[in-house]
Amino acid sequence: MAKKLGFGVLGAGLVAPFHAKGIVNSDGGDLIAFCDIDQERVGKLADEYGVKGYTSLEEMLEDPAVDVVNVALPNHLHYNAVIKCAAAGKHVLTEKPPAMTLRETDAMIAACREAGVKFGCTVQCRVRKSIQAIKQAIDTGRFGKLLHADAYMKWFRPTEYYQSDAWRSLRKAGAGVTVQHAFHYIDLLQHLVGPAARVEAKMTNLAHPGVALEDTLIGYIEFANGAHGIIEASTALWPGTDVRIEINGTKGTAIMVGERMTTWQFQDECPEDEEIRAYGDVSQTTGAGGAADFGFADHMVVIQDLIDAVDEGRDVVIPVKSVRPTLEIVLGMYQSDSRGAPVELPLEDDPSIWE
Ligand SMILES: NC(=O)c1ccc[n+]([C@@H]2O[C@H](COP(=O)([O-])OP(=O)(O)OC[C@H]3O[C@@H](n4cnc5c(N)ncnc54)[C@H](O)[C@@H]3O)[C@@H](O)[C@H]2O)c1
Repeated sequence: MAKKLGFGVLGAGLVAPFHAKGIVNSDGGDLIAFCDIDQERVGKLADEYGVKGYTSLEEMLEDPAVDVVNVALPNHLHYNAVIKCAAAGKHVLTEKPPAMTLRETDAMIAACREAGVKFGCTVQCRVRKSIQAIKQAIDTGRFGKLLHADAYMKWFRPTEYYQSDAWRSLRKAGAGVTVQHAFHYIDLLQHLVGPAARVEAKMTNLAHPGVALEDTLIGYIEFANGAHGIIEASTALWPGTDVRIEINGTKGTAIMVGERMTTWQFQDECPEDEEIRAYGDVSQTTGAGGAADFGFADHMVVIQDLIDAVDEGRDVVIPVKSVRPTLEIVLGMYQSDSRGAPVELPLEDDPSIWE
């Protein structure tokens, strides 16, 4: 590869270092700048990495060395930023959720398509070896008919986490355990077994009095292929344990805990199964007990893929259009909770869920 691809990280908060480490450890990526309206935060990270620090996106977009913008802003600010990046001809890697509504998501996808830029999303759990093995086994029919796809996210965040930045306790900014934390695991179920046909949800606040958000979700998904799914997600359950993903079919069962494959059993045993049973680093934390308590390896794979996609002239492996159905499930769950009834998909936006 001749020229390295220049990256600017927009937002110098909690997740920014995970992007930065992914970029500096990639093959062919060059970290050019951070950008944040908070001078102190941007200065600190820019100094630490020896790169430029911008306090306005418009200025960073004028920098010809920046080819890609990693959007790591609070959730409700992704939309405007992505539209500006596309208009400036920059590739975009946005954090999850891509946006707050389906209408915004569609407009972002269209803007990036018209600008001819890549548009990926860091739902990075998809790149875990265990998830890729499950996906391949589904695609090759090893599970038989899919029956169940469940996610159990029993995490803990103290009240101070919700108070650490204003947006973290504001529903209209896209906070709340369903859209903020469970998004990754709802995405895994959607990626593996989706799309969904019907969702139902009940949301409560069990352990964060004074924070006007749900900290706990009990959700149900009926997939278009007939499989059923349960999602339990909480940040109320001290001390927080690793997420468990369970996929059951008529001919096989796989269970991933954290990033480790703990059950991998099929009626048609294959030679590679023994190796797959050992997938996942036992020592790798995956966010159960703290907001920054996870590794950057998965972000790095997504960043490397974007670099390779530009080089090879292909699409990224996690385009935002593949994450739209996840957002639809999540929005459907908020609609279901607010109406007290199941919701059929495809969905119409109902912005009142964010009020
Ligand atoms: N993929 C993951 O595993 C993962 C983990 C954590 C967070 N996230 C996502 O990353 C995003 C950021 O989360 P975070 O925890 O880093 O939040 P954060 O609050 O720690 O950081 C966001 C930063 O954006 C800055 N900002 C706000 N408005 C701005 C503007 N107009 N221009 C420039 N900067 C602005 C804030 O000053 C802040 O420093 C969210 O979308 C979140 O969902 C993803």
